[in-house]
Amino acid sequence: MPTKIKKNIDSISEKVKYQHRKDEHLSLAQKYWHDGRLSGNGLENIRLIPNTLPEISMSEVDISSQLFDHHFEKPFYIEAMTGGTPRGDKINAQLAEIAKNQHIAMAVGSQSIALKYPELEAGFTKVREIHKNGFLFANIGANIGVEEAKRAVDMIDADALEIHVNVIQEIGMPDGDKDFYWLDNINEIASLIDLPVIVKEVGFGMSQRTFKLLEETAVSGINVGGSGGTNFAWIEKHRTNPFSLFLDEQGLSLAESLIEAEYSHSSKKLIATGGIQYADQIVKSQILGASLVSSAGDILFNLVENGADYVELILDGWSSDLKRFYTLLGAKKWSDLRNSELIYSGQLLDFINQRK
Ligand SMILES: Cc1cc2nc3c(=O)[nH]c(=O)nc-3n(C[C@H](O)[C@H](O)[C@H](O)COP(=O)(O)O)c2cc1C
Repeated sequence: MPTKIKKNIDSISEKVKYQHRKDEHLSLAQKYWHDGRLSGNGLENIRLIPNTLPEISMSEVDISSQLFDHHFEKPFYIEAMTGGTPRGDKINAQLAEIAKNQHIAMAVGSQSIALKYPELEAGFTKVREIHKNGFLFANIGANIGVEEAKRAVDMIDADALEIHVNVIQEIGMPDGDKDFYWLDNINEIASLIDLPVIVKEVGFGMSQRTFKLLEETAVSGINVGGSGGTNFAWIEKHRTNPFSLFLDEQGLSLAESLIEAEYSHSSKKLIATGGIQYADQIVKSQILGASLVSSAGDILFNLVENGADYVELILDGWSSDLKRFYTLLGAKKWSDLRNSELIYSGQLLDFINQRK
């Protein structure tokens, strides 16, 4: 076979393999949304202390938040999941509609696939066409160069850039990356891109050491991406070799990661993701220092199982429940939440005792 034709065939089959993997992630994340979570995100070990005399009217409560000089009407958004396959593009379009109706931000899934195969860009640009005036996060891996990072931003006219870091997921995939010299590249991208750049874990959390390393970089924000929700070690294990004993239970939970950020005295803006399903989890994350909170698996699960209208009902519920929680805590706005008191118990208390 002539070399040129063989190269074309190899490239097509590589693209199909890549797309297949993306679609398997969607199916398995949905299938294992309940089974893959071997333990909680740690927020279940935190109790809020209600305010019996809150001296507040619920009409005074404003749940909006501020981050990177941007006003967010609601403190939650749809986190990065997909794009670059017909199925992924359809889900992204549905998510963008939801985000537009809800006046919330949205992150697209990794754009690496469209950087490599530009014919796949259309599904990503569609998100901007739908959510015209919304806040959008572009998304790339930590091994992508500065020029490609700029292309990812331009592709969706993004307002911020997420760089995902996912060592556990990559080493769980037989065809995943095995080189993890990322820090200098992250710093270079953050220094040269004229937008807020966020480093984001995908569900295994971050320790004090990581926050300290990132403190020295030009990144503006950190999404602690803790465990307790979508579990990519579990997903990769079931995708490739269900008999392997892999790192299902590794990582720090969402609550532990936020606490580690505080102990490291990180000055970076924090975003919290990992098993978010209810408004009380959003409030607890905010009290622990998160400016914004995002959710992926729960939204995907409900979109596929119950449809877009149902997801909107869930998100409406988060907004109205947040107002109730703020009232109960005597907080008129997000920054007042920091005065709230918390009670820690169980594993999280053990963690605090060892780590502080
Ligand atoms: C199907 C699926 C695909 C994902 N793909 C990406 C991705 O491309 N880039 C990324 O940064 N995170 C990706 N994530 C991780 C999420 O953004 C999020 O960090 C993680 O799922 C934890 O949040 P959750 O517990 O609310 O799902 C993906 C998650 C899911 C469920």
